[in-house]
Amino acid sequence: MRVLFRAGRFVFFPEPAASFPGPRRFLFSGSLRVRFAAVFGSLRVRLALRPGRCPSGLFGGKSLAAAWRRREDRWVHVFGELVKLRAMGPSDAEALWRWNHDPVVMRWMHENYAQPLERTRSWLEERPRNAYGDVLFGIETLAGATLIGLIRLRDAEPELGCAEMDIYIGEKDHWGKGYGTDAVRTVCHYGFDKMRLHKISLTVVAANERAQRAYEKVGFVVEGRLRSCFRRDGEWFDELTMGLLEGELV
Ligand SMILES: CC(C)(COP(=O)(O)OP(=O)(O)OC[C@H]1O[C@@H](n2cnc3c(N)ncnc32)[C@H](O)[C@@H]1OP(=O)(O)O)[C@@H](O)C(=O)NCCC(=O)NCCS
Repeated sequence: MRVLFRAGRFVFFPEPAASFPGPRRFLFSGSLRVRFAAVFGSLRVRLALRPGRCPSGLFGGKSLAAAWRRREDRWVHVFGELVKLRAMGPSDAEALWRWNHDPVVMRWMHENYAQPLERTRSWLEERPRNAYGDVLFGIETLAGATLIGLIRLRDAEPELGCAEMDIYIGEKDHWGKGYGTDAVRTVCHYGFDKMRLHKISLTVVAANERAQRAYEKVGFVVEGRLRSCFRRDGEWFDELTMGLLEGELV
């Protein structure tokens, strides 16, 4: 630890400053004012501290306050029978980037433009904490504590009590083993019990039978068909809208 003190201000460095170039290199900064009041003959010392920014690599280079909030999110765990849902963070970037670049995983998904790994990492770093309108969970197996996919409840509004759900299991060798169904059931319990939702909806490509089967197993029913709205490999596919009301979850 090294402390620099200049013109009443000081900065704490975790290591010699030269190892952390740029503005993110200090842990705390503040000011120290020493005032001597001649009239009363007293010495007044005032110390003000504020959190600085961490060296990149430590808490992802974020401010200590942001890093602390992110660690708090890490403690939120929602347990199913086969999976645990937990908040995602920058350390999940590599897995997320790999899944997003796997054409087999993404076959029936709406894809965004491919992003480099660094953009994926900064998206995870900078996205706001989970909140009512956007809850993103990583799906971890309970048996091996392996991150295998993600699930999201989005666009919820307290006044309406409805949310949209997205899921994918990015680790293909974990398909067909019940993890997807358990993750859907677990996040729906979370939505109905904790968020007091009334309805959860989703859309799925009609040709994606595995996904439909997983949704039907927890109680989702088909509510509508959107004709020819998903194109893959030059072919057009219909999409189904599915919905689950509170009380219908099995
Ligand atoms: C869709 C997905 C989340 C399902 O998760 P999963 O862990 O593979 O699913 P589960 O093992 O819980 O359940 C799958 C069910 O579909 C059945 N199934 C598998 N292939 C099938 C097929 N071709 N046709 C019909 N049913 C099929 C399985 O037998 C199983 O049903 P069962 O338990 O009654 O036997 C996962 O496969 C995935 O992420 N796929 C890629 C991305 C994707 O499609 N996401 C959804 C976008 S809407």
